[in-house]
Amino acid sequence: MAAGQRLICAASDLAEAGRGVRFTLEQDGEPVPAFAVRFRGEVCGYQNRCGHIPVELDWNEGEFFDPSQLYLICSTHGALYDPHNGHCRGGRCGGRGLTPVSLEERDGGIYLKDM
Ligand code: FES
Repeated sequence: MAAGQRLICAASDLAEAGRGVRFTLEQDGEPVPAFAVRFRGEVCGYQNRCGHIPVELDWNEGEFFDPSQLYLICSTHGALYDPHNGHCRGGRCGGRGLTPVSLEERDGGIYLKDM
């Protein structure tokens, strides 16, 4: 493992458009909730904060996809986000997207890249 990279989970923990894995970042000495999901084969990571009100998206832990499995959804008021880039795609996010977290998949693991 490269210095400074942190293992988040096993690659096999992220099923296509399935349950996500929650983890915590540190930013300016403060814990920041984040999550990883898999969409169209790629691993995508975001801070777990809605663009409407900075609450966590998943009411039920790890459930980030809407029923269509095409969008990430905020469980509080239903804002929709593009899983690939976190852009707001509808609802109360009002154009404010999710903040990406840089992840890397290799050697059967999902790693947090240096920030
Ligand atoms: S808090 Fe997420 S849509 Fe309102």
